[in-house]
Amino acid sequence: MDKKIKIAVSNFKKDPSTVKFKFLINGEKRTGFALLFEGGYYVYKNQCQHLPVELDWEDNDFFDETNKFIVCATHGALYEPQSGLCIAGPCNGENLISMAFEVTKNNIVITV
Ligand code: FES
Repeated sequence: MDKKIKIAVSNFKKDPSTVKFKFLINGEKRTGFALLFEGGYYVYKNQCQHLPVELDWEDNDFFDETNKFIVCATHGALYEPQSGLCIAGPCNGENLISMAFEVTKNNIVITV
C-alpha cells in the first residue's frame, strides 16, 4: 500500500530551500527531499546518479554556491532543480529520481 508523507509548506522558509524526509523501501531506510525553487515544488530521492550516495553536503544542504543547482557533495555533479537532470559531472545526462506528490493548500503530500 502506498504511504503518504506530508510536509507543511510553512517549512520552506525561503526560495530556494529544501526539506528532507525519511522513508522505507523494502525495509531499507532512505531519504528524499522536497524543494521550493523559483515558486515551484519538486521532490526527489536523495541519491546521486553517479554512485548510490546521498547528495547533501551537510544535513539538508543541497544547493551549490549560486543557489541555482543541486550539487552532489561527493564529486560535484550539478543537477537542474526543476527537471533533476544532471548537467555537469560524472553522471551528465542522467536524472535524479523524482517522487510523486501533490500540493494541497498547506502541505506537500508525497507518495512513497
Ligand atoms: S557520487 Fe555524486 S558525483 Fe560522484
